Amino acid sequence: MNFKKELAEILAGLLDGEKTAAELELLIEKPKNASHGDLAFPCFTLAKIKRKAPNVIAQELSEKIQSPTIEKVEVVGAYLNIFLSKKLVSEQVVGQIMQQKGAFGQQEFGQGGNVTIDMSSPNIAKPFSMGHLRSTVIGNAIALIVEKCGYKPIKINHLGDWGTQFGKLITAYKLWGDENKVKANPIKELLTLYVRFHEEAESNPSLEDEGRAWFKRLEDGDQEALSLWQWFRDESLKEFARIYDLMNVEFDSFNGEAFYNDKMDRVVKLLEEKGLLVESDSAMVVELTEEELPPCLIKKSDGATLYATRDLAAALYRKENYDFVKSLYVVGHEQSLHFKQLIAVLKKMGYDWAEKMVHIPFGMMLKDGKKMSTRKGKVVLLEEVLNESIEMARHNIEEKNPTLANKDEVAKQVGVGAVIFHDLKNNRMNDIEFSLEEMLRFEGETGPYVQYTFARACSILRKANWQADAAQQTFNTSWEKEWKVVSFLLEFPNAIKRACENFDPSLVAKYIVDLAQVFNKYYAEVRILEESEEQQARLALVYSVTEVLKEGLRLLGIQAPQEM
Ligand code: ARG
Repeated sequence: MNFKKELAEILAGLLDGEKTAAELELLIEKPKNASHGDLAFPCFTLAKIKRKAPNVIAQELSEKIQSPTIEKVEVVGAYLNIFLSKKLVSEQVVGQIMQQKGAFGQQEFGQGGNVTIDMSSPNIAKPFSMGHLRSTVIGNAIALIVEKCGYKPIKINHLGDWGTQFGKLITAYKLWGDENKVKANPIKELLTLYVRFHEEAESNPSLEDEGRAWFKRLEDGDQEALSLWQWFRDESLKEFARIYDLMNVEFDSFNGEAFYNDKMDRVVKLLEEKGLLVESDSAMVVELTEEELPPCLIKKSDGATLYATRDLAAALYRKENYDFVKSLYVVGHEQSLHFKQLIAVLKKMGYDWAEKMVHIPFGMMLKDGKKMSTRKGKVVLLEEVLNESIEMARHNIEEKNPTLANKDEVAKQVGVGAVIFHDLKNNRMNDIEFSLEEMLRFEGETGPYVQYTFARACSILRKANWQADAAQQTFNTSWEKEWKVVSFLLEFPNAIKRACENFDPSLVAKYIVDLAQVFNKYYAEVRILEESEEQQARLALVYSVTEVLKEGLRLLGIQAPQEM
């Protein structure tokens, strides 16, 4: 049901092998203006090859094109404007959605290949930041989208659960900590201890030495240090779990930085064997001069290993365990250099598969134009943000639909969906301004707008008592008024494919907002619930829209309540 592809094949058949169908498909455009048809083919490239005027080629081709799905072909200058047969195409698309339901748009080009997705990856004993929220939301949507394209996603939470900060934290806890306080409010309490450590260390530098000593004990496997570390980790994870639960995100692995403690010696040894490790300022580094990058730090003078060393070990581990066809890292653009170095070092080590690693960067979350910081006292606790959004959604529902049955559940779906959609609707590289009012609007490009459109379409079907499995499949209409909506529906698989190829969920977000808008316009113009010859077709169309909106939202990690 890919009409671009079909047209490309027809054109290829009419040519003398100058271009393949696949090449021609790339030239086919989708006109912005409906009066230029549903598809357009510019003849400039062919004109060059055939040494004929482009308008002559267009004319010649137009006379030969024949297909039941094509209603007419118009020549405008060098362009072939193709008009699809509205009846045939509409009935094919709607029929297919009625049959496939949510599976519509499923593709198999991923061929079951494993795609590891390094995502979320917050730091233990620190609040979950807006950057981690973005990584979670974008990573989760990418996982769902690649799965829809036939890949097997593996979601890995590369927790920041190791490092010198744990030495400081243990020191602070031993000096001023209170077990019950930590249990009651782990992240907040641990952060308070951490902040106090830094404040007091300014006037008492011996604290720093003590912090280093505790970290050394931790690295050496000291029981007391390890059990405190384990406890901080467990408590932090419990708190993160509440956030993941609210957002409906699950992971396949929580192997964080600590997991690679015993896997780094091998990396260092491999680097040595390959002659890549050199000393610089009493540290061991890999030079990346040819790559025009600063050297990659592998081992500090005191023997401590670094972030990059762990990521090298992690990359090897993932290759060996998952044999990925792609390995993605959804991490803010501040870390671009780190990932460039990581990939460059692996290539130097002779691993071709480093080509399959992709850093997927994203912009910052801003509040009043400034970065939302988690430092010092100025913490924006994500859980509070999500809960506030849910509260506001509940308030809206209370006003609009006071008798709704499961208000709590719907408020959660709308409140969380609003935050997710707001994040995903823009190209991920853009910085985004955080505004609950904006996110929760029922009009414009928002999650609630799409959810509301879905709920409204569901209510039409309920009122008409229409069910897909019982519905007739022969329709008595020309599909003229419906055509705009249909032409959007048939774009869904393509929007998914492009989102997958570009690792850009915003293409799906934009697609469903556009579909919602086109549908609302149709709904305002056509009296669907009035009995008419066309009614069965119209209801089938409404149903198709509900399935695609719901599936589009699902691919972003957002739920679709039937009523709101
Ligand atoms: N924990 C890190 C941070 O908060 C992000 C880790 C990203 N993943 C990785 N494999 N380096 O900055």
